[in-house]
Amino acid sequence: MLNEKEKLNEIIQLSYEIASIQDLDILLEHILLKARIFTGADAGSVYIVEGGKLKFLCNQNDTLQKKLPPGKKLIYSTFIVPINNDTISGYVANNGHVVNIDDVYNIPERAPYRFGRQYDEISKYKTTSMLTVPLKSNRGEVVGVLQLINAKNEKGEVIPFAKDDAPFIIYFANSAAVAIERAKMTRALLLRMISMAELRDPRETGPHVNRVASYSVEIYETWARKCSCMEDQINHNRDVLRMAAMLHDVGKVAISDIILKKPARLDDTEYEIMKQHTFLGARLFSEKFSSFDEAAFLVALNHHERWDGKGYPGHISPTTGNVVPGYEGPDGKPRGKRGEEIPPFGRVVAIADVYDALASKRAYKEAWSEDRVLQTMRAEAGKHFDPEMLEAFFDSLDVIKSIGSRYPEAD
Ligand code: C2E
Ligand code: SIN
Ligand code: SIN
Ligand code: SIN
Ligand code: FE
Ligand code: FE
Repeated sequence: MLNEKEKLNEIIQLSYEIASIQDLDILLEHILLKARIFTGADAGSVYIVEGGKLKFLCNQNDTLQKKLPPGKKLIYSTFIVPINNDTISGYVANNGHVVNIDDVYNIPERAPYRFGRQYDEISKYKTTSMLTVPLKSNRGEVVGVLQLINAKNEKGEVIPFAKDDAPFIIYFANSAAVAIERAKMTRALLLRMISMAELRDPRETGPHVNRVASYSVEIYETWARKCSCMEDQINHNRDVLRMAAMLHDVGKVAISDIILKKPARLDDTEYEIMKQHTFLGARLFSEKFSSFDEAAFLVALNHHERWDGKGYPGHISPTTGNVVPGYEGPDGKPRGKRGEEIPPFGRVVAIADVYDALASKRAYKEAWSEDRVLQTMRAEAGKHFDPEMLEAFFDSLDVIKSIGSRYPEAD
């Protein structure tokens, strides 16, 4: 067991680590993981306040995870909880107090909140001890709720959460809330920039870019694990890739509305213009100040290259739009990048983008059936797509489908 001073150091270190994460989804995962490790919690969830309600956004459960085949992830769905005293999380968001319960099946009658057993019934998991903490910003506003479930001792037995951990968890929850506020603002700025670029209603663009971004991260992670990349590197890449993938089509800002919104097939001239959205997007990030700029540059430029070399824009200088000397194709135009000439971030976003385009309705096409989408994806192995990355896509298909339902099209 750590002593007070070690705990303090530990919690300061954890707060420092989460402060460097930029993407909201990745941040929530890390907040939950670090808090669980610190308190020895077997499971937990994070809720975020959105539109006056609590949105269940992140869930981890070691016991249920261990029952899955290696490499498989826990699937969960998002749901909304009202901010009132009917649930524990609602109570904590409503009143801003920490609630530490030794056994949720023995809550005293006089307690103002109730435990909802239906969650245990659905997940086939028995909740006993539960520590629920408000995520309060520096202005005292509750931005979310962190719920830690079933503290375990060294023998793996479920025990109550330590009463004297409270000050540390409150400190951590405050750092987490500040990081969440910042990440939400970053995401809102990105979405505003993207909705301008796509000249579309942000309610339409938001779900598409969030899906493409989350699919990309899932595929990338599965692929990178197989290549036994370094864990730290994977974690860092997940963060920059998620935001960069949201911006894959930002170059559409330079494409005329008439082409972008054409409710029919593009003719050859229109398609040639449309193709410019790749390097025009990359141009916005050609001054690379951070690993995020670098990732956004690579994704915008390379997300329409094909594994077989028949994609676009090929070996081109994004700043001038000219072919890179020595890489002219037979027609003098830039030769398409092929195979591993295409950076991994480009290969991964290509898969995520096409999958989402096929599965969704567009101005120029209807949504396809799942069978047709998956058959088309499979048939493109080694043609449009990197075969190994496509394997990673199929390996993560369960998670990918659940992401799809987390970011539904607005109606
Ligand atoms: P997007 O709608 O996000 O589509 C991304 C990519 O998904 C496409 O890249 C293409 O590889 C794939 N895809 C989308 N729909 C289909 C389909 O029906 N069949 C097949 N086999 N693949 C499909 P692509 O073709 O380079 O297009 C880039 C972007 O150009 C598209 O992004 C879309 O914004 C626009 N676009 C492409 N074709 C048309 C069109 O016929 N009409 C209009 N209005 N826009 C188009
Ligand atoms: C809650 O009530 O805070 C969350 C769900 C549950 O009851 O397990
Ligand atoms: C896109 O064409 O890439 C965006 C379409 C959409 O907003 O659904
Ligand atoms: C499209 O133009 O929407 C599809 C082109 C392709 O088959 O990649
Ligand atoms: Fe694109
Ligand atoms: Fe797209």
